[in-house]
Amino acid sequence: MAGHIPVLLKESIELLMIKEGNTVVDATFGGGGHTVGILESESTCVVTGVDRDNEAAQRALEIKKKYPGRFSFLNMKFSELCVPTKIDAILFDFGISSFQIDDASRGFSFTHDGPLDMRMSSSTANTAPFLSANNISALEVVNTYSESDLSDIIYNYGNEKKARKIAKNIIKQRRLYKIDTTFKLKSVIDNVFGNKKVSKIENATRTFQAIRIYVNDELYEISNVLSRIPELVKDGGRIVTISFHSLEDRIVKLWQKNNNVNIKPINNKVIKPSRDEIRSNPRSRSAVMRGFIYNE
Ligand SMILES: C[S@@+](CC[C@H](N)C(=O)[O-])C[C@H]1O[C@@H](n2cnc3c(N)ncnc32)[C@H](O)[C@@H]1O
Repeated sequence: MAGHIPVLLKESIELLMIKEGNTVVDATFGGGGHTVGILESESTCVVTGVDRDNEAAQRALEIKKKYPGRFSFLNMKFSELCVPTKIDAILFDFGISSFQIDDASRGFSFTHDGPLDMRMSSSTANTAPFLSANNISALEVVNTYSESDLSDIIYNYGNEKKARKIAKNIIKQRRLYKIDTTFKLKSVIDNVFGNKKVSKIENATRTFQAIRIYVNDELYEISNVLSRIPELVKDGGRIVTISFHSLEDRIVKLWQKNNNVNIKPINNKVIKPSRDEIRSNPRSRSAVMRGFIYNE
């Protein structure tokens, strides 16, 4: 399985402004690309990697061996993070990793056929305010939710104009068979569009994204951890966020706006990957990075 290429690596490390002896949290450890970059950028800093995916824990073992005494790993959701002493910098690289997308058995992607799952971890507890569920997989969402709930999820989290039609078709098809694989779901969505592709991306992309965001309660996770920054980060500490769609970035922007006395942007403009980065890593194309200083 191919690995994950860290997005905006050099730029994110610059924004984190790591100094001697700093304590840093990489809140979305993934394959550890950013963690290694941070550890290499300053030889005395200490990093804690956090990831809700159990499989990331395996990858973390390698890094622990390579950087003895400087790296530890917590297998948990970042919204539940507690620190014994406040930290100097925290990085969030939201969304899912290539390890997760490219593993058909995780059911995230319609480019590989696999069981419909999409949970980043099997202990995902969904506390979404507008619909609540618990440790629910995409399989259950697609095969048991009502038409109006499905339509709301697909519209709100996928910004999909045909959400109602897609929800209606899901209900119609699931009366005939269980929609239990990524290819079956893709075909139910594609049916609604006929042969028309409405944008550059595949028609199924928005619906898959919506269900994934719902299943993992991703937006609640972001707003919750940001609201806890004062408990986690020292005065003068840095917070760096990398978002991959407007729903994530909107939460970050709103959080800064609502806390503009304590949370100061480092740059006026967002930082995006260069053309070269996009060419060598097309998955970076929608990334938008922001950096902030807390209570300086
Ligand atoms: C885009 S990847 C990060 C890749 C990483 N920066 C690297 O360079 O290898 C996002 C990772 O964050 C994890 N993740 C997403 N939401 C999370 C949450 N709420 N709590 C903990 N981990 C989360 C995912 O499981 C995934 O491994």
